[in-house]
Amino acid sequence: MAFNSEKLKPAARVANNRQDVWSIINEAAAATPTQPVVNMGQGFFGYNPPDFIINAAKQALDRVDANQYSPTKGRPRLRKAISDAYAPYWGRKLDPETEIVITTGANEGMLSAFMGFIEPGDEVIIFEPFFDQYIPNIEMAGGKIVYVPLHPPKDGGSRTSSAGEWVIDFAELERAISPKTKMLVINTPHNPVGKVFSKDELQKIADLCVENEIIIVSDEVYDRLYYAPFTRVATLSPEVERLTLTVGSAGKNFYATGWRVGWLMGPAHLIKYVAAAHTRICYSSVSPLQEACAIGFEQAEAEGFWDECIKDMKSKIARFNAIWDELGLPYSDPEGGYFVLVNMSKVKVPEGYPFPPHVASRPRDFKLAWFLIQEFGVAAIPPTEFYTDANASIAEDYLRFAVCKPDEVLESAKERLRGLKKYIQE
Ligand SMILES: Cc1ncc(COP(=O)(O)O)c(C=O)c1O
Repeated sequence: MAFNSEKLKPAARVANNRQDVWSIINEAAAATPTQPVVNMGQGFFGYNPPDFIINAAKQALDRVDANQYSPTKGRPRLRKAISDAYAPYWGRKLDPETEIVITTGANEGMLSAFMGFIEPGDEVIIFEPFFDQYIPNIEMAGGKIVYVPLHPPKDGGSRTSSAGEWVIDFAELERAISPKTKMLVINTPHNPVGKVFSKDELQKIADLCVENEIIIVSDEVYDRLYYAPFTRVATLSPEVERLTLTVGSAGKNFYATGWRVGWLMGPAHLIKYVAAAHTRICYSSVSPLQEACAIGFEQAEAEGFWDECIKDMKSKIARFNAIWDELGLPYSDPEGGYFVLVNMSKVKVPEGYPFPPHVASRPRDFKLAWFLIQEFGVAAIPPTEFYTDANASIAEDYLRFAVCKPDEVLESAKERLRGLKKYIQE
């Protein structure tokens, strides 16, 4: 039945017609003759959290109180565990009552931060490429987004480089700041670039925020996965800490993206309003899994888990990237996180290759992603989805691969990708 009534029209905030990247890639993956597809697209883990965390979750389900509402700010045990776990970096224990709020994943935490501070017309600066959820989260709060692109190395098509070589043009950033700029979002370690911002870069960004009284939302969800020196923005100085909301994710920390446990840490005068918005959005977050995450934080260090995270992911990155070295395709070597951006400018898609109209009308990386799925059964994500149309050309030769998959999956992707050889032209 067709619905024509004006009253049934969706709100503009959800009525965007353009098909999103996840459904394009999933649809392509379902339609390809090469089944099953090796999915290196979305950044979910292909393996379980360690046993000490899984067991903690199972035990929590047996407890009456852990199956009921949690306090809106989060369960006291988890807030205390986070305060203890982060004390070595902050040089003091954050107050679990006033400086930490538990959220339903980092995503809802950021929505709460924007809902807590943005009035219609306020501006929020974000860097491109961005984590796609930032956009609706800011716009639903009535914010206007001002974009500043990260620039890849100019010769990224001809040599493998460090992800750290993607840089901000600070003159562009300064031009983006206006009297209406209320917040700035920074993501380090970065998705999808894999860059870990240097202390010097963070200091320059933070100085501008201090000068202009701009709240910094520092999305540090990959904070346990860094392979280069990592600075936490809030620890730069007391002036910066005063303005900074640090975002964390148990999903990313403990290989459990489906648990939807995240948190924000920051000064009491900011956390208070994030917590107020969070209470209205979802009241409180999932109780038994908060308990499990508390135990995760309490035991991770003694279990050697944080060191293992880094060692494992570094080895997955090296294992997977060997195929690009073999094929002679340059990539951006990650300094953090679990995404690899590969430059495909040398890959020549055959003339007249049949793309459906919704792919044909998108930048070259969408065509490359479609081609890889159809020809080799390997799914990757086109990163121009994480740019505005105006700046999409910056990333149209790249594809993003998530390496947080079992080693057998990485090996099977590599075997399939060997077939790319005949399409590579120097
Ligand atoms: C940069 C970044 N921030 C936030 C999130 C969301 O984290 P969560 O799953 O805890 O909501 C993601 C997930 O992919 C991410 O990549």
